[in-house]
Amino acid sequence: MPSIIVVGAHWGDEGKGKIVDMVAQKADMVVRYAGGDNAGHTVINNHGKFGLHLVPSGIFAKGVICVIANGVAVNLESLAKEVDSLEKSGIDMSRLRISDKAHVVLPYHIQLDGLEEKARGDDAIGTTKRGIGPMYQDKVGRIGIRVGDLLDPDQLASRLGIAVEGKNSQLQHYGEKPVSYEALYAWCRKLVERLAKYVCPTEDLINDALDKGKTVIFEGAQGALLDVEFGTYPFVTSSSTIAAGVYPGAGLRPRAIDCVLGIFKAYTTRVGTGPFPTELLDATGNRIRERAHEFGTTTGRPRRCGWFDAVAGKYSARINGMTAGAITRLDVLDDFKSVKICTGYTIEGKVVNHFPANLHHLRLCKPVYEELPGWMEPTSHLRDFSKLPKNAKAYIKRIEKLVGVPMKLISIGPRREETIEVAPLVTVKKGKRKG
Ligand code: GDP
Ligand code: IMO
Ligand code: MG
Repeated sequence: MPSIIVVGAHWGDEGKGKIVDMVAQKADMVVRYAGGDNAGHTVINNHGKFGLHLVPSGIFAKGVICVIANGVAVNLESLAKEVDSLEKSGIDMSRLRISDKAHVVLPYHIQLDGLEEKARGDDAIGTTKRGIGPMYQDKVGRIGIRVGDLLDPDQLASRLGIAVEGKNSQLQHYGEKPVSYEALYAWCRKLVERLAKYVCPTEDLINDALDKGKTVIFEGAQGALLDVEFGTYPFVTSSSTIAAGVYPGAGLRPRAIDCVLGIFKAYTTRVGTGPFPTELLDATGNRIRERAHEFGTTTGRPRRCGWFDAVAGKYSARINGMTAGAITRLDVLDDFKSVKICTGYTIEGKVVNHFPANLHHLRLCKPVYEELPGWMEPTSHLRDFSKLPKNAKAYIKRIEKLVGVPMKLISIGPRREETIEVAPLVTVKKGKRKG
């Protein structure tokens, strides 16, 4: 299985971390290519329980090289903390690599994230306040600072000089105190010294690994509906979270991917504001949240919960070019008498079968549900698809048909081993790449 992209199918928190940790056991390299420490990927394995934000979830697999590629928004302070804490847990961090071209999140980005959110008032996005939006604004605005710039004192002085001037006029607009160039310069140098040994042109590493027929996993962050192009704009994050984001985000050549694995949760959740057609604002929504302990890994906020949205799922499968799917958290639905799947929307009585781009239309969408009988049996101990209760299999098959993706992994618990492998993810033979 040479190259696999793992992407979130809905609004994030689908269980990407768990699946990457599992798939990485047979891999040579795991690469993060988008987002920053707004991501929170939970991994539970024989080393313990971890909430990873920047370090790829393959770090627990022996000998696997873990790459933070150029598309990632790198907060050096939180990365240094994550590295320290993993080292304390006995994890070998010498396998970490950080792109010299990745942009860094600086304290003023975090400050501006908070100020911009406040200024949005009722239209606030509900960001994770990790400075992600302001950092990507600077990247495309060409006043960003890259990890490699930090390593060169002269380059850093000149880049920071330009950036601080611009940022101080923005902060002044909000009535805030200006940033001290000297203090920021010293802060950047200190942090980068700690992480310098990991920095390199990661696109070379990744392409070399693929040339040699190695198995490389690309770990997506967030989900397709938070993608800056295809998500529920403007209630999205600021990076390209879909599978295609891997090309600019990691420096990959097109056609280098053998499998796009979409991670679907057995129901749907969202954190932050923005439209969510199947949201359940009733006792059923609370029941899912409590049973599944749906609280954010990064911010601890309660996640909004709803039934599985197959309209959004089908849209996501298409824009990601998914070749396989995984359904996670099936066990959460184990004691529901019946379960519902949203198969379409109506707007003022008219049927809508696509996922609307217009925010106003999306807000008006009323879900059309298909109700299926529940299975009312525990599933976490099962490891064989054929042993799943009949109604659980029927639920999976119905989702598969509606979204148009074969579900090759079924997750029935948060631990690595609580997974049913239905079929191999990739059938391409090692070393046979044409791309
Ligand atoms: P990610 O951001 O996509 O990696 O997902 P998160 O880690 O933010 O959230 C997923 C949550 O579901 C975590 O608490 C996982 O430990 C948990 N989880 C993953 N798969 C399963 C599963 O199959 N069953 C249960 N009960 N929990 C799961
Ligand atoms: P993982 O990788 C769920 C959401 C925020 C907010 C919007 C914009 O763990 O699935 P941002 O801080 O990125 O500017 O916030 O995006 N968001 C996530 N929601 N999972 C995530 O990551 C998220 N990362 C960002 O809640 O609505
Ligand atoms: Mg998460």
